[in-house]
Amino acid sequence: MPAFTADDGVRLHYAVKGQPPGDERSPLMLVHGFPLTGSLWSELAEVLRTRGLVVVPDLRGFGRSSVPAGPYTMERMAADLVNLLDSLALSSVYVAGHSMGGYVALAMAELYPERLAGLALVHSHPFADNESQREQRYQVAEVVASPRRETWNREQAERLSGEPAVAAGLHEMVAAADSRAIAGASVGMALRPHRAHVWRMFRGDTLHVVGSQDRIIPPARAEETQNERPAGRMVNLKAGHASMMEAPVALAAAIEAWWMPGA
Ligand code: MLT
Repeated sequence: MPAFTADDGVRLHYAVKGQPPGDERSPLMLVHGFPLTGSLWSELAEVLRTRGLVVVPDLRGFGRSSVPAGPYTMERMAADLVNLLDSLALSSVYVAGHSMGGYVALAMAELYPERLAGLALVHSHPFADNESQREQRYQVAEVVASPRRETWNREQAERLSGEPAVAAGLHEMVAAADSRAIAGASVGMALRPHRAHVWRMFRGDTLHVVGSQDRIIPPARAEETQNERPAGRMVNLKAGHASMMEAPVALAAAIEAWWMPGA
């Protein structure tokens, strides 16, 4: 798995699949959620690689990437992704962010707008946490460093998917995550600002993927996200928070239609 060094010295890994598309279309970057790794996207990347270049990072702290001190702010992780684009000499990409990966994509859209040709929020939203959500993030940072970690792993996997086989696969990924990375990302999410205006004003193509059985992003939140960009492309899948594993064919079709309309 190739690696690059971010501008703060942290070594980060990523996978690249497929070939650069023959036309002018930008490559696709798939950004995983919390507390997962790029391998979340394995099945999707295998399908989409036939259409063009697909870049799949492991965010700092996760997968094969190193585990620096936290917090991992969305802005820092957005800078990591821009450092990755620079290292691959890619001027811009379509970015699909899953949940926390969507928060990172929104930070990227705000801070480096010229690097994003398209923005997809996959089971994600552009709103900041309220006080009680922030409090829970700080509690997670403590729980994962305590003997309650195993219970948290199981509960988190069940929140991610109500399908036992999918939850079992996700449980492995959650259990493998470093506690310091979970804490770093959790506090980073607590610190993220409201970015509804970024979503609303984004000048490129957007996609909003909703899971009708999502236990983490409730329907009301998905509706608020859509209301910020009512004319934006939305796909509602029969899935929980992990449609890339629960409904990969439908999600791949939605991503392809956004990434390569008319192809
Ligand atoms: C995620 O799936 O990335 C996180 O659960 C999102 C969140 O906690 O807000």
